[in-house]
Amino acid sequence: MSKYRWGIIGTGGIAHAFASDFRYVKSGVLSAVASRKKETADQFANQFDIELAFNDYFSLINSQQVDVIYIATPHVYHYDLVKACILAGKAVLCEKPFTLNERQSKELYDLAEQHQVFVMEAMWTRFNPVIEQVIEWVEEGEIGDVHSIQANFNFVAPTDPNHRLMNLEMGGGALLDIGIYPVFLAQLFFGKPDFIQNQAVIGDTDVDVFEQILLGWESGKLASLESSLISHNPNRAVLSGSKGYIEIGSQWHMAKSCRIVTGEDHQERAVEFDFPGLGYQFEAEEVNRCLQEGLIQSPNYSWQDSLELMATLDEVRQDIGLNYPGESEIDAEELEHHHHEHHHHKH
Ligand SMILES: NC(=O)c1ccc[n+]([C@@H]2O[C@H](COP(=O)([O-])OP(=O)(O)OC[C@H]3O[C@@H](n4cnc5c(N)ncnc54)[C@H](OP(=O)(O)O)[C@@H]3O)[C@@H](O)[C@H]2O)c1
Repeated sequence: MSKYRWGIIGTGGIAHAFASDFRYVKSGVLSAVASRKKETADQFANQFDIELAFNDYFSLINSQQVDVIYIATPHVYHYDLVKACILAGKAVLCEKPFTLNERQSKELYDLAEQHQVFVMEAMWTRFNPVIEQVIEWVEEGEIGDVHSIQANFNFVAPTDPNHRLMNLEMGGGALLDIGIYPVFLAQLFFGKPDFIQNQAVIGDTDVDVFEQILLGWESGKLASLESSLISHNPNRAVLSGSKGYIEIGSQWHMAKSCRIVTGEDHQERAVEFDFPGLGYQFEAEEVNRCLQEGLIQSPNYSWQDSLELMATLDEVRQDIGLNYPGESEIDAEELEHHHHEHHHHKH
């Protein structure tokens, strides 16, 4: 089997982590990287032994020497870049959040369907062996009926107002960057929530720096989730069931171990996974596997999963009153458009 040729767009923090783990990907090879600057493209290419270095993103997108493109830029650029990749017929793995809102995501998944191009949001946690193990335990009924999920994702971010996390223009804030993970976990097991409540704290730069979200399901399940850019936390996740519980320890979203406690006597089993790197290799392997099978979306993290995740984030943001620049103008344009259509019908 020939290896899929991957190109990376952006040379920031996550691009480095991903490229570093890519050495463990057997079914692909890093062939190209694109940066806005020649110097950073060359440096990245050198560091990771990448053949092609482009100093603009669109040359990479249009390169005939690339099969799959990994997008590692700040959120606000995801929409345009994914769109360009699809139109160029390139498979895409795009960092989370896939776009700023559900409407943009839906547009892109529809476009991918139309062009029959593989697209996946880089929800890497889904492919971590620990998560696979937890899914298996839950499916086998090991902890009985699962009633609740508690999960955090906190860290202390730089306070620089221009840093992408604090900058509204860059799609900053806790929810889209890290709050997305606990919501993902809850919806992985319970599906789209029926009730959404939250309390958020808005920081000096008008982005959400801290929030707690309570999700509810008609079936009687609850999820209690927190994300913060201003406080530390062990970032554990706990699934509570009628016959026991599962705990994924510190930094659950990238854990290498988990434990299950069951029965009257609280019997405990711990499982460790001894994989190399941080675990970014698994999402890349999933993309290659899907391409090999001729799929345009992953059955393990589908477009629907991604849209349902984004819908919850939209609803939380609406409740907080957190809008990103451009979003409401686009809404207004749409209204305008509808208005005109309506007008035409009348004539
Ligand atoms: N999966 C994960 O574990 C994980 C972890 C962190 C972040 N992420 C996601 O990955 C994305 C990037 O995050 P990051 O932490 O890697 O960000 P970062 O360190 O700031 O890097 C972003 C890169 O995007 C490019 N870029 C394009 N336009 C830019 C602009 N106007 N300002 C700054 N950079 C720009 C730059 O690459 P060039 O200079 O080469 O053009 C930059 O190095 C975000 O969507 C985030 O949610 C995921």
